[in-house]
Amino acid sequence: MAIEGYTEDEFGTKLGILLSPSRPIHDLEHLKGRSKELDTIKKSLYAPGRHVFIYGDRGVGKSSLGQTAATQYQTAGTLPIFASGSPNDTFNTIVGNIISQAIGQRRTEEVQRFEHQSVEVNGMKFTEGNAATGIDIAAAIRSVGDAVELLSQIASPSDKRSVVVDEFDTIADPIERNKFAALLKQMGDRSIKLKFIFTGIGRSLDELLGAHQSAYRQLETVELPRLGWDARREIVRSAVESFGIGLNDDVNWRIAMVSDGYPYYIHLVTEKILWAAYSADARVEEIGWDLFNQGLADAIVSTTAELKRPYESAVLHRPQEFEDIAWATADHDDLLRSTNDMYESYKVIVGKRRDGRAAIDRARFTTQLRKLKTLPYGAVLQQEDGRPGWYSYREKMLRGFARMQAQANGVELTGERAAPRQQMHMGNVRIGYHGPSIPVGVRSGKTISEWEEK
Ligand SMILES: Nc1ncnc2c1ncn2[C@@H]1O[C@H](COP(=O)(O)OP(=O)(O)OP(=O)(O)O)[C@@H](O)[C@H]1O
Ligand SMILES: [Mg+2]
Repeated sequence: MAIEGYTEDEFGTKLGILLSPSRPIHDLEHLKGRSKELDTIKKSLYAPGRHVFIYGDRGVGKSSLGQTAATQYQTAGTLPIFASGSPNDTFNTIVGNIISQAIGQRRTEEVQRFEHQSVEVNGMKFTEGNAATGIDIAAAIRSVGDAVELLSQIASPSDKRSVVVDEFDTIADPIERNKFAALLKQMGDRSIKLKFIFTGIGRSLDELLGAHQSAYRQLETVELPRLGWDARREIVRSAVESFGIGLNDDVNWRIAMVSDGYPYYIHLVTEKILWAAYSADARVEEIGWDLFNQGLADAIVSTTAELKRPYESAVLHRPQEFEDIAWATADHDDLLRSTNDMYESYKVIVGKRRDGRAAIDRARFTTQLRKLKTLPYGAVLQQEDGRPGWYSYREKMLRGFARMQAQANGVELTGERAAPRQQMHMGNVRIGYHGPSIPVGVRSGKTISEWEEK
């Protein structure tokens, strides 16, 4: 084996603890780059009657932040309650699920601190051991007031207890979503010591709860940006180092860039690289470019089908220029980009291809770009309201997949332009994370470590 000291089983198990592309994180040790957000959440949870809403794009790490924050807030030795929305869920089914878990939790050894053995509403009693399912409880709830009553019975005056309602945005009916606003308000009025942490995909709370909600005063909203550079690099470094092997720093930068700040890709690529290292013939001292390329190719194959489908609609069975155009749209850190800017990226990409193909002209580029908005082409792009010629990805996370494809085909996306441009800017709403933009040196053709030394 090329990583010594582990059987395959031991290696796989350890890898599963360090890297989890398919599962949210729930402990501080593995949650990188979110100390600012955790601090905001912690402070707001001290405030009586205040709850938290974490929102952001798909895959940025909302569930991980929510679960870790909930675990932190919880009284030691007890477990938070985790519920998740789905299109079929209603206010009642979610509350029913929360209550049923709260009753059930007391059956476990570690969690004996909550004294209530049963809850009661509208003359119906649900008792631990009585197999009270969430559906039974949901059926007994007739109003928001009933839900508040039940929650007051599972809350404890002495223990801190939190409830995560994940994927709130998937609850289809806005009327059902709105009931949570009323719930928080009434819980505050009755001083119920239970903290809710919601997560959802969305650009604003208005989108999720509807405008004019008085619950805004009860909610600390945390908008989650993409991961910054340090956190991206730290995920890779800490995983690789735990196996006692080295990591080429340029490779680490490259993973950070290819991921576009979406932790899913960082976990996936690093996991595949480490498996490749484990299976290599020769002993591995350091993760270098060969293992990176192998891991990247494996990660592309393993990327969730649902995620990569729009990309495939855009480029498969199409003239080859569509692949270059798709890569051009994913170039650079800005999430919102102009046609001009993307055309510049496109020309650089065609140059890097080195297959003798000429670049299409600007007019044709614009025509083809527009097609990427349409369903047959995966509706990869969306046009920004009121800004003709400006586009963003409909599903931001797909940018990372397009970047991985470009990289695997030997085209490094570094935000270069055919013409010189302003080189560095601090994080802002456009790029969606805090911290410096793509390392300058990479654009100017120097190696990344040269950039870092500056
Ligand atoms: N701060 C972080 N540090 C390290 N890994 C992270 C971090 N945040 C998330 N991850 C990892 O990234 C992946 C996606 O995270 P998570 O499921 O929390 O995102 P999400 O925003 O809830 O996604 P979705 O919108 O699909 O529900 C998970 O594998 C998780 O392990
Ligand atoms: Mg999630």
